[in-house]
Amino acid sequence: MAVVISVDADIARVSRRAAQRLVTLADAACAARGAFHLVLSGGTTPRCLYQTLAAPEFQRTIDWTRVHIYFGDERAVPPDHPDSNYGMAKAALLDHVPIPPAQIHRIDVAFASVRQDAAHYAQTLARSAPQDAQGVPQFDLILLGMGPDGHTASLFPSSCILREQHRCVAAVYVDKFQTWRVSLTYPVLNHARHLLFLVTGADKAAVVGRVLVTPSPSAAVPVQRIVAQGEVEWLLDRAAAAELPAGIGV
Ligand code: 6PG
Repeated sequence: MAVVISVDADIARVSRRAAQRLVTLADAACAARGAFHLVLSGGTTPRCLYQTLAAPEFQRTIDWTRVHIYFGDERAVPPDHPDSNYGMAKAALLDHVPIPPAQIHRIDVAFASVRQDAAHYAQTLARSAPQDAQGVPQFDLILLGMGPDGHTASLFPSSCILREQHRCVAAVYVDKFQTWRVSLTYPVLNHARHLLFLVTGADKAAVVGRVLVTPSPSAAVPVQRIVAQGEVEWLLDRAAAAELPAGIGV
């Protein structure tokens, strides 16, 4: 598994590089398989990427009618709630590009039965996403972020979801935020054709250094427990890359 690291001055340049990579991967997927199955990440970092993709320069470079959208995780809130990952992506990108609505698969977290919501999304993936030889959903690209504690999606340290090796989607109670979430699990991340981490900000520098420079298997953070079968790229800004040795990152 080759890991490619790039470092750009700021989040705008990181987002532009990510948009260019996404266009390249979309073209390749559509040429090879007729569609591009893309998992969006949540939080705040990717908003700039989504807005970049929605701008005229990039909007015309992707055949959005062949793009299928999924989500890496979702909070237990309605889609119009300020914390909704779907709501953020909808405002920044999905409302501005011609993706057929039937190709946008949001995670519907009713909260009343969060485990049933996870099972329902797993059925959505089984119905809509390409499956590999092991019957695991295989996405062309999964966008991911990383928290200062090394979590990604909703795979948080010490959470039960870290042990999930069979189900593709699971509900997880996040002690840190005292709330439920629904998240893709390691099997799906591991089987993706391409993982692309967007990590920016000085508060991520320590964990970036730990993950990319001095991994300690005995005390691995959730990101380090991904065993990717596909390509992995890290797109960082200078602040997040501050603890990387000089010369790392193109
Ligand atoms: C979420 C994301 C989460 C996010 C990290 C980093 O729902 O919040 O799935 O994993 O990517 O917390 O968030 P920022 O990019 O906003 O720092």
